[in-house]
Amino acid sequence: MTSEAFIGEQITDVEHSQSPARTAIAYPNMALVKYWGKRDEELVLPVTSSLSMTLDIFPTTTTVTIDSRARTDTIELNGQPATEQARQRVERFLDIVRALAGHGDRAIVRTTNSGPTGAGLASSASGFAALAVAATSAFGLRLDPKAHSRLARRGSGSASRSIFGGFSVWHAGLGDGTAGDLSSFAEPVDSAALDPTLVVAVVDNQAKAVSSREAMRRTASSSPFYPPWATASRQDLCDIRAAIAAGDLTATGQIAERNALAMHAAMLAARPPLRYLSPHSLSVLDRVLALREDGITAYATIDAGPNVAVLCPHADAALVAQSLGELGDFVSTYVAHPGPGAVLLPGGDR
Ligand code: PMV
Repeated sequence: MTSEAFIGEQITDVEHSQSPARTAIAYPNMALVKYWGKRDEELVLPVTSSLSMTLDIFPTTTTVTIDSRARTDTIELNGQPATEQARQRVERFLDIVRALAGHGDRAIVRTTNSGPTGAGLASSASGFAALAVAATSAFGLRLDPKAHSRLARRGSGSASRSIFGGFSVWHAGLGDGTAGDLSSFAEPVDSAALDPTLVVAVVDNQAKAVSSREAMRRTASSSPFYPPWATASRQDLCDIRAAIAAGDLTATGQIAERNALAMHAAMLAARPPLRYLSPHSLSVLDRVLALREDGITAYATIDAGPNVAVLCPHADAALVAQSLGELGDFVSTYVAHPGPGAVLLPGGDR
């Protein structure tokens, strides 16, 4: 939509310069088989496929308005202007949407994260999933969920999975370039046989010192444990899909825990080493082991941060949360069930 018609030297306003706002909501996801390492940085094509559960806590709400008179995008995060780094990242993402839409209008983006930002709690997943859905609608595009997933992937790999609710698998895809771009998307995984809950133990809600983008680059390029992790991860994905289909929460948890710990082992072996685990993370891991010794099905997974998510049956979630909370004031627990996929809020205006 253009706001001005050029007739010789004369410039006439023919339309209001701002389009109606479009608002989308999306939830973070926790990977049980992790995405760690890209084979194409520009297109965000991963080395391996991954699988996650979308949560029903910590949603991100994003409103996008086209401002065709503006010369730059305006990006706000939690009511404040975004940092220069975040602004550039969102602007690059909007450039992809502009290219798809075939026009170069600038946008106003207002995002609210209800969980901690950049603390290894998947705020970039919910953030870019919400942005993909809101921005495409604001720019007049109609995409199906698979196309939204591919687009969200370009902002943050894990965002490809937050387009879907419940469990989803993100396919690494075939080849690179266009073939890789088109074949690398997430899709839902049937988890009806499972009754999973994730108890999220937040031990530190500060933004991490090294971004996952930089950390995965360093791990993949320098850790002698990275190639074996990637090989094992491919097997983990086959095994976890079978465990989920069979409704076997114990096997699902065992695979998730080994996959995450092996990823952290590969990071520890990077040059220079990367260590996201803190003494508090280890205390939570010890408690998870103790719960298992007491006969509770409880398995841990950890993203690129010190916080630990514990997979357990729905019926044991309160007990697991209480037990982790008793470790001390340094732990806050949040109980998450399988949550919904990314949606546009009705009416669009907000
Ligand atoms: O999507 P990114 O670039 O924030 O990377 C996410 C990496 C992990 O959260 C550690 C693993 C995953 O699969 O979500």
